[in-house]
Amino acid sequence: MWSKFIKPHSATCRSSVSKFGNKSQSTAACNSLPAKFPGEPSGPCIKTSIPGPRTKQLLEDLNKIQQANSTSVFVNYDKCCGNYIVDADDNTYLDVYTNISTIPLGYNHPELLQVFNNEHELKSLINRPALGIFPGEDWPKRMKNIMDMIAPSGLTQLNTMMCGACANENAFKHAFMAYRRRERGNDNFSTEETETVLLNQPPGAPKLAIMSFKNSFHGRTLGTLSATRSKYIQKIDIPAFDWPCAPFPQYKYPLEENEKFNMEEDDRCLAEVEHLMEVWYKKGTPVAGVIVEPIQSEGGDNHASPYFFRKLQSIARKNNAAYILDEVQTGGGPTGKFWCHEYFDLECPPDIVTFSKKLQLGGYFTTEDMKPQQPFRTFNTWMGDPGKVILLEKYLEIIKRDKLLENVRSTGKYTLECLKQIQSEFAPFIHSVRGRGTFIALTAETTEKRDEIIRRLRAKGTICGGAHDLTVRLRPTLLFAKPHADIFLESFYEVMKEMTF
Ligand SMILES: Cc1ncc(COP(=O)(O)O)c(C=O)c1O
Repeated sequence: MWSKFIKPHSATCRSSVSKFGNKSQSTAACNSLPAKFPGEPSGPCIKTSIPGPRTKQLLEDLNKIQQANSTSVFVNYDKCCGNYIVDADDNTYLDVYTNISTIPLGYNHPELLQVFNNEHELKSLINRPALGIFPGEDWPKRMKNIMDMIAPSGLTQLNTMMCGACANENAFKHAFMAYRRRERGNDNFSTEETETVLLNQPPGAPKLAIMSFKNSFHGRTLGTLSATRSKYIQKIDIPAFDWPCAPFPQYKYPLEENEKFNMEEDDRCLAEVEHLMEVWYKKGTPVAGVIVEPIQSEGGDNHASPYFFRKLQSIARKNNAAYILDEVQTGGGPTGKFWCHEYFDLECPPDIVTFSKKLQLGGYFTTEDMKPQQPFRTFNTWMGDPGKVILLEKYLEIIKRDKLLENVRSTGKYTLECLKQIQSEFAPFIHSVRGRGTFIALTAETTEKRDEIIRRLRAKGTICGGAHDLTVRLRPTLLFAKPHADIFLESFYEVMKEMTF
């Protein structure tokens, strides 16, 4: 029935060529990309069993010096090109997972390869400063430039950090400081506060909480881990704060057929948020911040409605808790808007928006209100990395110039529609196809089946991601276009047929 995705011959290698790749492959490159990507292969090319012999050897070597069993692919980054990744055994894959969603413009983008061919930029790269004390003289201009290009509406402050967890960790600190400043009316600390804080005791170290949601993921540093709720293996054996965990809506799909259930689900979760606010307040640990992902990502790509996010904001405001949107995974364009929360039509700006991944370094935007009054309250040695900011500036210029968010929206719509059609043939083996832009996922019947789908896709030359127990997720580049989507869909359809007949 799904002849659209079945080509007369499903060869293991399509004709392809890469400037950096195997010259023996033929020279037909894909011409229908939204932006020209010179030499991008026109399809995957698998030459060995997966994992191949060199990969196995490298894994053995690495395992001798660290626990390396999370390693999936050793990459030959010299040979990767555009949407294609090449492994140590010279296998070429279409990459729809992109290093956990961190490669916005594909591999070895020609313009990015040029960025440090400039003495000033090169010197900014090699002289990595302690940004909180010795920033380069061009740093204020660079920060202003980033603000002008991507600051979420209403957020006037920008702090760069190292990674996603580091961004969230510091966002929590801003929320706590703002809460105490509001309680105290100022930041003139009492002697009792300055003394008790060194003993980890109140009032200097107050009892305050961050609310997060079931299945959320906010990082693995000690503070963020208390807000992370997706998998036990990330948390086990680590002491944690006693912070509230609210339910996140679990929708039924298709959305059009389950509107009533899903709206009730929103209200059920929101009622529990209010209840938990009250419980924690009564037990003397008021909630100073609510952190939420616009789409719960590591937790399985769980979506919630704009209504849910608007109401959640109003409950947070009512309780003087900062509303923190964790856009570490959704930020940077994969949903078809630069920030996913732009879909929510919030009544007022969130207090803090955190980012990392596609933006190359961690960081967060805040309102003026969240700004600490004294220096050194959120601080570390590097506080980001000018080298990554230089790359980010280039990324942003290309995303805008090449209208890549439009590309994400149109490729995403196409891929989502096609996956829904495939789902209609194979449900309930797969179900709940969902997504915004190319931030797309579906659910498999069991974890074993989900893992097998990903394994078979890889054997056919597509690297796809899993999340939580049952989810298959797509996190392609912003250059992922219809021809790439067709290759993925064709492989996916073949895998479905193999596994169900
Ligand atoms: C939503 C979200 N927040 C925070 C993080 C943590 O980011 P990092 O791994 O850079 O610390 C992640 C990582 O996947 C994430 O998806």
